[in-house]
Amino acid sequence: MWNREIKLSIFGESHGNGIGAVLDNLPPGEEIDMEQLLAFLARRAPQNGKAGSTARTEADTPEILSGLLDGRTTGAPLCAIIRNTNTRSGDYGNISSLARPGHADFTGHIRYEGFNDVRGGGHFSGRLTAPLVFAGAVCGQILERRGIYTAVHILSIHGVQDTPFDTVHPDLQAAAEVKRKSFPVLDNRQGERMQVEIERARLGQNSVGGVVECMVTGVPAGIGSPMFEGMENDIASIVFGIPAVRGLEFGTGFAAAKLTGIEHNDGFYSEDGQVKTKTNHHGGILGGITSGMPIHFKVAFKPTASISLEQDTIDYKNNTNQKLVIKGRHDSCIVPRAVPVVEAAANIAVLSQLLQHHKG
Ligand SMILES: Cc1cc2nc3c(=O)[nH]c(=O)nc-3n(C[C@H](O)[C@H](O)[C@H](O)COP(=O)(O)O)c2cc1C
Repeated sequence: MWNREIKLSIFGESHGNGIGAVLDNLPPGEEIDMEQLLAFLARRAPQNGKAGSTARTEADTPEILSGLLDGRTTGAPLCAIIRNTNTRSGDYGNISSLARPGHADFTGHIRYEGFNDVRGGGHFSGRLTAPLVFAGAVCGQILERRGIYTAVHILSIHGVQDTPFDTVHPDLQAAAEVKRKSFPVLDNRQGERMQVEIERARLGQNSVGGVVECMVTGVPAGIGSPMFEGMENDIASIVFGIPAVRGLEFGTGFAAAKLTGIEHNDGFYSEDGQVKTKTNHHGGILGGITSGMPIHFKVAFKPTASISLEQDTIDYKNNTNQKLVIKGRHDSCIVPRAVPVVEAAANIAVLSQLLQHHKG
């Protein structure tokens, strides 16, 4: 469970009856536009023909069990279930006790003493990001009503770079357009190059990773806390809940270590009564508290673990050395589908911090 001012519980297994989310402590009376919500979920869903995407297609339509009445939040826990309809567990028969390198089969088996549902990755499956996206889509609508907007795109795939966001003077129109693209990049030519990389990986029965860039605009200065309950902490804890995340950088991130103070410090100035900075190396957060500049972070995703090339592994039931060839259906790159997941994570963390602030 993600247990902050907002509480989020995600349940289900990839090949069980369904998956879902319980979202607690939302403000009451918030209108939720279902059409907009479904459009958000559709951005994460596997799509036939989309570069690198798994052939598993599913409607991903959430059924709301509680917390919403006449299109508005009631203040009671918002619970949604998404039924699993397209499961072919037979594909996974040959890997039932062969640990997929890079996946959670071995660690999950040890942790749950062999009782966990391994079909399709069980509770470790990327499919569990659908309820996360549901929760983030709801939070996003509440934030947008307060002038807060989350922008996301693919920054790179296997080293091919998109144009980064301008995090000082954000172009919100371009940010809105990128969300409507089936391959969400700012520079379509670079997007085509990325898709070539993904296709090359697929043909080689291999996979590639990449980076998603996220920027949240309109968050007022003064939201957050120092040390353990800051804005960075909450974003980090939910972002690391996304499967396959390997790194997170706020603002200039690791590159800050190579700069001098005068290069890295963002000079303040006042304009129309508002305090701003000329650059945004700090990623909109200082001391765990928002500065009023766009919150900015990047998330690194590893290459998809399930690849069809032969790999060394063990049979975790009898500890024998084995060779593994994965059949199944897998994304050769999960990054395009992870873009709305990162947006959802940001929405949940930022709304939670905002509600905490207003409560205080
Ligand atoms: C949207 C999305 C889809 C994913 N699809 C797959 C997949 O098809 N095959 C796979 O091996 N991993 C996939 N993953 C990643 C695994 O779920 C993840 O690597 C695994 O649970 C181990 O967790 P870890 O990588 O965080 O350590 C996906 C992740 C996301 C965010």
